[in-house]
Amino acid sequence: MLCGITTQQQFAPTMTDFRPTYDKSFDRIAADRLPALLRAMPKAELHMHIEGSLEPELIFALAQRNGVSIPYASVEELRKAYAFTNLQSFLDIYYAGASVLLKEQDFYDMAWAYLERAAADNVVHTEMFFDPQTHTARGVPMETVVNGLHRACTDARSKLGVSAALILCFLRHLSEEDAFETLEQALPYRDKFIGVGLDSSEVGHPPEKFARVFARCRELGFHLVAHAGEEGPPEYVWSALDVLKVERVDHGVQSTKDPELMKRLAKDRIPLTVCPLSNLKLCVFPDLSKHNLGALLDAGLVATVNSDDPAYFGGYMNQNFTETFAATGLTRNRPGSSRRTVSRAASSTRPPGAPTSSGSTPSSRASDRRRRAAPPAAASPPAHRRWLPATPSASPAAPAGAEWRRA
Ligand code: HPA
Ligand code: ZN
Repeated sequence: MLCGITTQQQFAPTMTDFRPTYDKSFDRIAADRLPALLRAMPKAELHMHIEGSLEPELIFALAQRNGVSIPYASVEELRKAYAFTNLQSFLDIYYAGASVLLKEQDFYDMAWAYLERAAADNVVHTEMFFDPQTHTARGVPMETVVNGLHRACTDARSKLGVSAALILCFLRHLSEEDAFETLEQALPYRDKFIGVGLDSSEVGHPPEKFARVFARCRELGFHLVAHAGEEGPPEYVWSALDVLKVERVDHGVQSTKDPELMKRLAKDRIPLTVCPLSNLKLCVFPDLSKHNLGALLDAGLVATVNSDDPAYFGGYMNQNFTETFAATGLTRNRPGSSRRTVSRAASSTRPPGAPTSSGSTPSSRASDRRRRAAPPAAASPPAHRRWLPATPSASPAAPAGAEWRRA
C-alpha cells in the first residue's frame, strides 16, 4: 500500500494493528506527483451521508419514476440552487432532495451509484451514514430504507471489492424521544448497520440532548459517532466525547479553538472525520487555503479526509484530497509539516481482502479489485458485533419546505 500506512479509524477487524508506519519514500515524492498518488492510493471513507450522494440527474430520474414533482425545471436549475451560506441553507435543500426516495430500489440505486463512484476513486472501505427519520416521517417504512441500502453494500463487496457498512444517524433537530422511536423501528434490522451517529442542524442541539439514546445504543453494542464542532463550539466536541462517549468525531474542525480539547483528542487518538470541500461550501472556512486540516495534523491529531455530501459539495474523495492538498500546501515542503502529517491525512487503510500497493494504475487496481471481490460471508454474526471498536440556524422541527410533494 502506498506509504505503508495503517490507521485505526475504521471500524474494521484489523484494529489490533493500528500503529501507523511511515514509508520514508514519501519524503521523495515530488509535489507535482502528489495528485496522482493521492488518487491511486487505497482509501477509507468514514464520513459521507448517502442521501448527500444523490446527484441532480438521479433526483430527476427518481422523481419521474415515482411521480414526485420538484420545483426546478431542469438539472441545471437545481444545481444552481446549490449556493449555500451555512449548514442550514444546505440541509433545507438536502432534505427536499431526499423526498424522491420512496421504494427499496430507489435506496439501492442511490447507494449503488455512490459505491461505483467510490470504487473509481480507489475507496476500498466506506462507512455510510443514513438518515431514516427523513424517510419514515414521509411514510417510507424503515425496512424499505435499510434493505435497499444494505443490498447495495452486499453487492459492493461481491461486485466492486469495496467493503461498505451503514451507520444510522439520528436527526438532532428532532427530539430524543423521536430518536428512541427510530431506534426501536431499526432494531429488527440491527444486523444491517454497525453503529449510530448524530447529524443535521448542530447549533442549539448539543450532543447531551441525546445522552440517553446514545447510552442505550452503547449497551446494545453499536459503534458511536457524532457530528460535533462543524459549526458548533468546542464544548459540543467535549460533550460528544464525555457524554455520548463517541469513538470518532465527525468534522470537529472547531476544536482548534480549545487547546485543552486538542490535547485530549491527540492523547486519546480520537479520529476526526474532516470534510474540506463541505467546509468550504458551507462557509466554515472562507477559502480552502485557510482550512485547518494541516493545523490538526501538526498538533498530532488523527484527522482524515472525507466527502460528506459529495453531490452537493462539488467533489468525491479524490477531489477532496487533491484540492485540499493543493490549496493548503500539504506536502513535505509545507512549513511545519512533516512526512508524518501528510501520511496521517491520507487516512489510507487496508481492510481484509483489499488490494495492496503493486504499482498498478488506479484503473487496473479497480479491475483487480473486481476480480478479487469476495463472495458474501455465509453465516456471519450481526454487523454491529462483527466489527470491533477502533480502540476506540437550527430549526425545532423538520426544516421548512423540506419535502417535495408527490404529484
Ligand atoms: N452536517 C450535519 N448534518 C448533515 C450534514 C453535515 O455536513 N450532511 C448531511 N447531514
Ligand atoms: Zn456530515
